[in-house]
Amino acid sequence: MLILKKLNPHSQVLEKIKRFFFDKITPLYGDQTKAITKLIEAKDRTCIVLMQDSDPLGLVVYKKHLTDEFEKFGLRKYFEIKTLALIDPEANSGNRYGSLLLLSATKEAVRMNAEGLFVTVSSGKPEAYRFFSKMGFKPAQSVKNLYKQGFDEVYFAHNDPSQLLIYLSTKKGYPIELLRRLKDRNNIHTPLAHVTS
Ligand SMILES: CC(C)(COP(=O)(O)OP(=O)(O)OC[C@H]1O[C@@H](n2cnc3c(N)ncnc32)[C@H](O)[C@@H]1OP(=O)(O)O)[C@@H](O)C(=O)NCCC(=O)NCCS
Repeated sequence: MLILKKLNPHSQVLEKIKRFFFDKITPLYGDQTKAITKLIEAKDRTCIVLMQDSDPLGLVVYKKHLTDEFEKFGLRKYFEIKTLALIDPEANSGNRYGSLLLLSATKEAVRMNAEGLFVTVSSGKPEAYRFFSKMGFKPAQSVKNLYKQGFDEVYFAHNDPSQLLIYLSTKKGYPIELLRRLKDRNNIHTPLAHVTS
């Protein structure tokens, strides 16, 4: 069964997520030890995991509080997505899993009355660049060699969370499994309107 759950740092899922960060994120952003500690502490960020039974398929990590950190780009009261990725994109892309993860983050951004959503994307991940462009994010600025030599970082922003929520909510093709009743208290319920066969 497919479900969206908050990361439980005491579950075996954490080991798989750690491996993902070390294998896939470290080459682009450098050592991830601090990032993983922050995920486990969950003080300033939330990690939502898309699970297929006990297997994590993807995750979205976002900050718990709106930020003015990117005011230099004219962005105030923004909701920051730290990471949005499928763990094995070769096997699982094209199934709307990325959209589902973005949908759960966008719901939270709307609930928090964010002025917009913000994410940075590495030039080493052109598929993520295309994904966020498709979702209506616009590049605000690009910084050369920010984290790693040879990789530019693109600052992407979407300035209308409510409109993004409608866009994602009315998309077709979400996995039918999400129609099943969710039992766990930590599950994030996906309204039926979001799910079509
Ligand atoms: C980018 C990513 C999240 C997309 O997830 P996904 O589940 O394949 O995306 P979806 O199926 O929800 O697709 C949503 C839309 O984006 C488009 N899209 C997704 N990947 C794309 C790609 N590589 N090229 C072009 N368009 C793409 C889809 O065609 C779809 O368009 P539509 O709504 O018009 O049908 C996923 O490929 C991924 O995680 N890649 C690795 C990124 C990564 O490792 N990041 C780590 C550093 S942050």
